[in-house]
Amino acid sequence: MGKSFAIIGDPIDHSLSPNIHSAAFRELNLDSSYIAYRIPKGELKEGIEGLKKIKIDGFNVTIPHKIEMMKYLDKTDESCSLIGAVNTVTNKDGVLKGYNTDMDGFLDPFKKKKLDIINKKVLLLGAGGAARAIVAGFAKEKAKSITIANRTLENAKKLASFSEKIGLNANAIEIEQVKNTVKEYDIIVNATSIGLKNESSPISFDGINEKTIVYDIVYMPINTDFIKKAKEKNAIIIFGYEMLLGQAIRAFEIWHSIEAPYNAMKKALLGGF
Ligand SMILES: NC(=O)c1ccc[n+]([C@@H]2O[C@H](COP(=O)([O-])OP(=O)(O)OC[C@H]3O[C@@H](n4cnc5c(N)ncnc54)[C@H](OP(=O)(O)O)[C@@H]3O)[C@@H](O)[C@H]2O)c1
Repeated sequence: MGKSFAIIGDPIDHSLSPNIHSAAFRELNLDSSYIAYRIPKGELKEGIEGLKKIKIDGFNVTIPHKIEMMKYLDKTDESCSLIGAVNTVTNKDGVLKGYNTDMDGFLDPFKKKKLDIINKKVLLLGAGGAARAIVAGFAKEKAKSITIANRTLENAKKLASFSEKIGLNANAIEIEQVKNTVKEYDIIVNATSIGLKNESSPISFDGINEKTIVYDIVYMPINTDFIKKAKEKNAIIIFGYEMLLGQAIRAFEIWHSIEAPYNAMKKALLGGF
């Protein structure tokens, strides 16, 4: 029998994951299907029971369930327990195991482009769920230090203390405090939701150069104002879709134990914009 997969969340209508995974199934002639399944906040337990009943083989988890889903797992891999949030689940005979592929997905473009993280100074905007996976990634790759700038200082402080705990020097500031310090950093990441609604960049890029890496994890639109302003300074750009693709590839490989067809998945993703 063919295998079945899903993405759960709310809203879910505009998810690009069904396109990406279906393209991989076509490319490799796999008898598998992948659907988007809306589970509203507060209905996760019933939703999971339904998925178990139809013997789903695996599923992705997105907003608003990434943290709550931890409660329903029987097992967790290292990335998942470290980050405290889950985005990929396998179901083996009713036993649910959780993974977090956001960290590897975030790091994937650095590896592909051979961009070093070791000993680099990082400025991270945002302190939500995605930012936590990103901090874990920078700690793993031994960045020198990270400054976490967030609208709510309290959340930045909490994330900074998580960072210190896992061995990455960190300090917390408010986004407004970034001002003209941007040029002090080697890598600048936007992990807030600013840009999704075409908002302008919360920081300016005065003084950065063509060696500065600027990474926006917002992937819709592809060219956010943050990316556009960094391009004007000839910075090295990493787009949000590259992380989205990276996490999908890692999820595919967890589920199917074969190499993911990168180009077919990338083409399907970019066609979805
Ligand atoms: N490319 C990918 O694969 C990928 C993966 C995961 C997430 N994402 C994107 O990353 C973004 C964040 O996701 P998340 O899961 O971390 O969300 P989240 O947990 O809700 O965190 C949202 C973050 O954005 C900040 N924020 C929201 N609205 C803001 C505003 N108007 N001004 C300033 N700061 C604002 C929040 O600050 P406060 O603490 O002050 O509320 C918080 O730091 C989303 O746009 C999501 O689509 C992309």
